[in-house]
Amino acid sequence: MEILVTGGLGFIGSHTSVELQLAGHKVVIIDDCSNASESVLDGITAVTGIQPEFVKMDLRDKGAVRAFFEKHPDLGGVIHFAAFKAVGESVEKPLDYYENNLGSLVYLLQELTARQKARFIFSSSCTVYGQADTLPITEDAPVKPAESPYGNTKQVGEEIIRDTCRVNPALQAISLRYFNPIGAHPSATIGELPLGVPQNLVPFITQTAAGLRKELSVFGDDYPTADGTCIRDYIHVVDLARAHVVAMERLLAGKNSANYEVFNVGTGTGSSVMEVIQSFERVTGKALNYKVVARRPGDVVAAYADTSKAREVLGWQAQSTLDEAMRSAWAWEQKIRGL
Ligand code: WQD
Repeated sequence: MEILVTGGLGFIGSHTSVELQLAGHKVVIIDDCSNASESVLDGITAVTGIQPEFVKMDLRDKGAVRAFFEKHPDLGGVIHFAAFKAVGESVEKPLDYYENNLGSLVYLLQELTARQKARFIFSSSCTVYGQADTLPITEDAPVKPAESPYGNTKQVGEEIIRDTCRVNPALQAISLRYFNPIGAHPSATIGELPLGVPQNLVPFITQTAAGLRKELSVFGDDYPTADGTCIRDYIHVVDLARAHVVAMERLLAGKNSANYEVFNVGTGTGSSVMEVIQSFERVTGKALNYKVVARRPGDVVAAYADTSKAREVLGWQAQSTLDEAMRSAWAWEQKIRGL
């Protein structure tokens, strides 16, 4: 089935495009290349031997979105990754985030609701839970007021889809709430390519080990956790990509029990910052240069998924360990730095 992957040159989008192709689906990618290089297309093709159709497009251009759908009447479904995602930047430029992340979503849904049948997977985030009251976090956990405009675009995005599905029974949709995606394809042909100074933990670790950064700053070790550092649910990006294929195939097969469903996508295991550092050192044999500094504003103490709904309803669970994910992250860093 032909599947549109918006943001398909990005970190999760490129890995999902690979897994869709490996599962036999035809992939069409839309990306504006604002946060990804067109060369990622070669990486996807190198992994699968199949070059996806690629359309460079700004999804804020309503006319371009309309024209695309007119040229693709037989799309089986859409997986929507395209969005700005830098938490800090969203605080500085909220209107850019609302226009881009929500405008593109509305234009896509306007095209999909004009069709007899449409399937839609939304890239959401565990950030909607904020600091959950109970751990592990289930899909029924209350959505907390967003800590950033970025997080709010995920919350409002889910509400837009929910409200649209309510009055458009032909639209079948799933929101996947990711925990913390890390690692890279085992072929080291595609991976994470953060622009500028990485905001996320794992790319900062690998860039420090590669000599691009002087040292990792650990944002606080005075949290109420076993070793004082924050806990997250780090999931291998290939496991996350496969969850998208399973979710889309659930919709294509009409197995969904409602026309809007939500699933947490994580490993179910929480790891502290220090445990991630120890994992990196274990799998690489390299001592990481780091120092403990002040807490980062906005960080939650702990967040990790209750994975029972994804396992029992979606029929999916993560396969890779933290060590395997860290090993793949380091292999990718070595590849792109020629180490
Ligand atoms: C993880 C832990 C930091 C960097 C963010 C977004 C979320 C999602 C995933 C898109 C925290 C600590 C980090 C560093 C550190 N993105 N850390 N030093 O904040 O859990 O989630 O990325 O959907 O929406 O909010 O991920 O990797 O930034 O931080 O100590 O240099 O690592 O304090 O405890 P986070 P992260």
